[in-house]
Amino acid sequence: MSAETPARKKLFVKTYGCQMNVYDSTRMADALAPEGYDEAATPEEADLVLLNTCHIREKAAEKVYSDLGRIKKMAEARKAEGGAGILVGVAGCVAQAEGAEILRRQPMVDFVVGPQAYHRLPELVREARAPGPKRVDTDFPVEDKFEALPKIPRRQTGPTAFLTVQEGCDKFCAFCVVPYTRGAEYSRPVAKLLAEAEALVASGAREITLLGQNVNAYHGEGPEGEIWGLARLLEALAAMEGILRLRYVTSHPRDMSEDLIAAHGSIAKLMPYLHLPVQAGSDKILKAMNRKHTAAEYVAIIDRCRAARPDLAVSGDFIVGFPGETEADFQDTLALVARVGYAQAYSFAYSPRPGTPAADLPQVSEAEKSDRLQRLQALLVKQQQDFAQSRLGMEVEVLLERVGRKPGQMVGRSPWLQGVHLDAPAALMGRIVRAKITEVRANSLAAEMIDAEASAA
Ligand code: SAH
Ligand code: SF4
Ligand code: F3S
Repeated sequence: MSAETPARKKLFVKTYGCQMNVYDSTRMADALAPEGYDEAATPEEADLVLLNTCHIREKAAEKVYSDLGRIKKMAEARKAEGGAGILVGVAGCVAQAEGAEILRRQPMVDFVVGPQAYHRLPELVREARAPGPKRVDTDFPVEDKFEALPKIPRRQTGPTAFLTVQEGCDKFCAFCVVPYTRGAEYSRPVAKLLAEAEALVASGAREITLLGQNVNAYHGEGPEGEIWGLARLLEALAAMEGILRLRYVTSHPRDMSEDLIAAHGSIAKLMPYLHLPVQAGSDKILKAMNRKHTAAEYVAIIDRCRAARPDLAVSGDFIVGFPGETEADFQDTLALVARVGYAQAYSFAYSPRPGTPAADLPQVSEAEKSDRLQRLQALLVKQQQDFAQSRLGMEVEVLLERVGRKPGQMVGRSPWLQGVHLDAPAALMGRIVRAKITEVRANSLAAEMIDAEASAA
């Protein structure tokens, strides 16, 4: 920073896509704080707007351009009123995938920065403020990013926190852009992660969700140079007193190792909730997707996890209408869903992505895709409702995360990631209380607190 401290400025970050982008957005704000940027609540009050974008499906990627159009109008209106200019940066996976093309499609953008170059944001912003050519920074040295970002997150806004432990993907599923936008698999060293977890706990985090595009492929360097898997990392984190709950997302069935499955039974702090995408139930389609496992192998993994932790709730991702998917293949997906029983699920119509192998194959019609998606979602919604209903009358532990809208109300989460509303003193924020589920609502549960002393944190 220069000798004269710059006046504080306002930054607005809009996050699209997955939880890794949510984590990255907080880290980008961390990186820009020393440059004089505080976070703004709306883009209208911002001097710098960053769009942290997602390229996973066409709709997600196109949304960026419509948002840029709106920001352009806002900037023009501000200028007409004699107000200050606005800097606009495009970050995230669209930035990585499209690079300079973004500047061509929307010339009001000042700079483009890929997910592995966030540590250079201060420099990019300083350059963007000065006249000169626009920068597109989509270099890939992932180690540098974690090394050069501020060592610990600056602030933590509640009892739950994300921690990226692994980034990138070497699986190359035939439909997916992630290996191209996030690069090769990289696992952060254990010591760095334990230090970041300690800092998160010191600033109020009680539940930590470990993030990775393939988080269960984690293989980071341990303190003595040996390689740790995810199960060992979870064990070390569970030994930290301030941590009450642990979760991890997203996993690939191929990396569901025996010790990780066993960890679901042996680590009490590891929540009984597993997000394990399968994408499809037909072996032919799984093969064409390059998933490297069969439907039966997936079901067997779920069974083993449930044997280790009987109250485990399972969540999944599905794609319908992958090239070559017939009605019979789709029926296999429905059968797999019926067999597994999902507490939660995300399902999508296949979206051909430029540069991925499946994009060039003969496509299933849009009408068939949307018909299958509707039928699949009907089944998944029914399963979700049944799961929620099965909690009625149950005594559960709720981690209180925030103050509710009604006076005296708090909102927390059940072990199965369900939002729970209950009356409790605000002083119990960040604590786990015991509560009885009294009502199942559309997207949450209502409960009565029965014991405020479920945790000693
Ligand atoms: N790493 C995770 C998830 C990656 S993206 C995994 O391995 O499962 C999140 C989800 O988006 C995927 O699980 C998949 O269901 C969906 N998805 C990815 N590419 C897609 C595409 N081209 N069209 C439709 N859905 C897609
Ligand atoms: Fe994409 Fe497959 Fe990698 Fe998941 S495992 S990020 S779906 S390529
Ligand atoms: Fe989207 Fe990139 Fe995440 S494509 S899903 S933001 S890794």
